[in-house]
Amino acid sequence: MEIKNIVILGFGDMGKGIAQVCLMAGYDITVVDVSDEIIQKGLEYNKTGFERLEQKGKLPKGVTAAAMMEKLKVDKNLNNAVKNADLVIEAVSEKPDLKQQLCKKVIENSPDHCIFASNTSTISITEIAQRCNKPENVIGMHFFNPAPLMRLIEVIKGDKTLEETMDIGVKVAKTLPCLRGERYVARVLKDRPGFIVNRVIAPNALYNNYILDLAYEKKIPWEQIDADLSNPNAPMSSLTLADFTGRDIAYNASLYYAEKISPDFKPGKVLTMHYNNGTLGKKTGKGFYDWSNGRPQPDLSKKAGLVDRQVFAAISANEGCRVLEEGVVKSWKVIDEAIMAGMNFPGPMQYATTNYKELSKILEEYSEKLGKDYIKPCELLKSGKFVEMQ
Ligand SMILES: NC(=O)c1ccc[n+]([C@@H]2O[C@H](COP(=O)([O-])OP(=O)(O)OC[C@H]3O[C@@H](n4cnc5c(N)ncnc54)[C@H](O)[C@@H]3O)[C@@H](O)[C@H]2O)c1
Repeated sequence: MEIKNIVILGFGDMGKGIAQVCLMAGYDITVVDVSDEIIQKGLEYNKTGFERLEQKGKLPKGVTAAAMMEKLKVDKNLNNAVKNADLVIEAVSEKPDLKQQLCKKVIENSPDHCIFASNTSTISITEIAQRCNKPENVIGMHFFNPAPLMRLIEVIKGDKTLEETMDIGVKVAKTLPCLRGERYVARVLKDRPGFIVNRVIAPNALYNNYILDLAYEKKIPWEQIDADLSNPNAPMSSLTLADFTGRDIAYNASLYYAEKISPDFKPGKVLTMHYNNGTLGKKTGKGFYDWSNGRPQPDLSKKAGLVDRQVFAAISANEGCRVLEEGVVKSWKVIDEAIMAGMNFPGPMQYATTNYKELSKILEEYSEKLGKDYIKPCELLKSGKFVEMQ
């Protein structure tokens, strides 16, 4: 089946970036959003983006910014917008009920072959599809932010998705250009919380919470902990990034994983305190740092010496093995490649192939120390059997 008409629902942060890459791949695009203001902002973002790319000679050969914008249509009526759609990519607010409603409406009002793809970061694809009468046509298409710059797209199979629908989703995703390197598409074979990348890094929060709570108790300044946690080459220190993203996002993610995977993910004391006090970081002007005069410049010259970075490597490798055990992917290489493409840092698996015994020992020790059974090494890591799953 040939995909020509793509409809994008939600023209916010993600929707406008997804629209950009779909246009650059040559598809006809219609966007739908409930907010006129957001639509205007999205159109402006795409127009200036394309003009900049045209000046730099980065648009496809013979294509102008104006021609790109001509292929971008806006329709505020959803039923009308999807009547000739081959693929609908949904990037509306992260609300299960809203996504289920839209999925049902799209499937009822679009051609039989139309595929509904959700860009959700946390909601199960099976759940999103459960109210529509063609769950075989529903997939996840999880872009990373910003979609034009981050190489990864995870294409996710719901419990009832047809292989053929997955094939089309993967094929379309591979056609979408990335402005920073080659697009990488990961096929996610099972609909499990966090899919691949977010899932593998999620339990690092358990160790992070432990360190932050310990530092708070010992009255160690955040800057010293930040110096322990941060990579000197990263664009922002770890705690600046935590403030930038928002402590509410971290809090809600912890509750989500606590409900779906293990109660051990419950938010720590410091995180709960930030959430309850409304010290959410940049958006409220204060988190770990004061943001009232712009981005903080923490002094990272002195370390607290509380953090053992090997623990993060061990926890992520263990979670990668769980992802393999659950059948989310079949190869540890896909995990590492997806993390590099989605987060710009190396994944944990390659290192674990030769160090799994030591990492397992660290996990035994730290599961005791943290009082968290969840970070005990799983069978696949302990035995080293994952090494064969290339
Ligand atoms: N921001 C990220 O880093 C990121 C990364 C990956 C995935 N996601 C996921 O992408 C989705 C969108 O996130 P975002 O950050 O772009 O949010 P956003 O708030 O910037 O955009 C959401 C848009 O959806 C619109 N909307 C709400 N109801 C609608 C409806 N009924 N019909 C059409 N439009 C509607 C809103 O007006 C808004 O413009 C979420 O599911 C989120 O979990 C976000």
